[in-house]
Amino acid sequence: MKKIIDFTVRDNRRLNKDMFLLTLHSEELPEMKPGQFVNVRIDNSPHTFLRRPISVHDIDMNNGLLYLLVKIAGEGTEHLSQIRVNEKLNILLPLGNGFTMPDTGKHLLIGGGVGVAPILFLAKEMNRKGLSPIVLVGCRTKEDIVLQETFGNYCRLLHTTEDGSYGETGYPTQHSVLAENFDGIYCCGPEAMMKAVARYATQKNIECEVSLENMMACGLGACLCCVTETKEGNKCVCTEGSVFNIKDLTWQI
Ligand SMILES: Cc1cc2nc3c(=O)[nH]c(=O)nc-3n(C[C@H](O)[C@H](O)[C@H](O)COP(=O)(O)OP(=O)(O)OC[C@H]3O[C@@H](n4cnc5c(N)ncnc54)[C@H](O)[C@@H]3O)c2cc1C
Ligand code: FES
Repeated sequence: MKKIIDFTVRDNRRLNKDMFLLTLHSEELPEMKPGQFVNVRIDNSPHTFLRRPISVHDIDMNNGLLYLLVKIAGEGTEHLSQIRVNEKLNILLPLGNGFTMPDTGKHLLIGGGVGVAPILFLAKEMNRKGLSPIVLVGCRTKEDIVLQETFGNYCRLLHTTEDGSYGETGYPTQHSVLAENFDGIYCCGPEAMMKAVARYATQKNIECEVSLENMMACGLGACLCCVTETKEGNKCVCTEGSVFNIKDLTWQI
């Protein structure tokens, strides 16, 4: 059941030059799955009429807390970065289908840039189920790496940086961990990265889910601006995704 809730901002922590972590509180916080997202209304920002889709980074049901990890990409997210403690944030949630949660097996979770946002919640839930996920984070440089300690609580954490300033040099698909065997791969990040991961998973015959970040407006399946082509025809990323098994997509990989 979708809800529109006025959350109270409990914390707004700047993590680096363009990323920040919002801690939001509501007594009405609904249950959510890893890979689901929320649609945030940006108030007092004249050009950002549409809500902005942001992944569920983490939730704390006992204390009614929702965490959003955001990268400044334009006017809406810049405005959001300025929000202060005790201000209200109007949010439509929960949206999207979420990742398929496995019961067993060895799983690799790959996040590129702010694509790490939904990966934390997924790693946490896998960890809670007794699985031992490996999280591989791809960044341009060391300064882009955030929340290492938090991630480290739930997984074996690995990094690649394009400039070699931390972890292994290159892209996630070049990391040595890919020589290991996996039962499933879960990925969120830039489309080029997700396609490279999908190519690797297809070659190795590994189940793979990706979370698409298509442009969205309503978030409810009404405006059709977010559609993606699948083997079963066009699908709304906001309601029938944002998570897709790569076998269902028509990507030329
Ligand atoms: C399912 C989903 C989950 C997302 N999760 C996160 C997250 O956890 N953290 C995060 O920082 N970002 C996330 N994004 C991306 C985020 O929605 C955009 O960066 C944000 O909407 C940009 O808004 P803006 O006003 O700051 O930038 P704008 O100036 O409007 O645009 C800057 C860039 O953002 C893209 N963008 C703008 N509006 C949208 C929109 N409505 N939907 C998708 N992309 C848009 C544009 O293509 C453009 O390249 C997610 C997107 C989707 C679809
Ligand atoms: S955002 Fe409107 S249909 Fe998906």
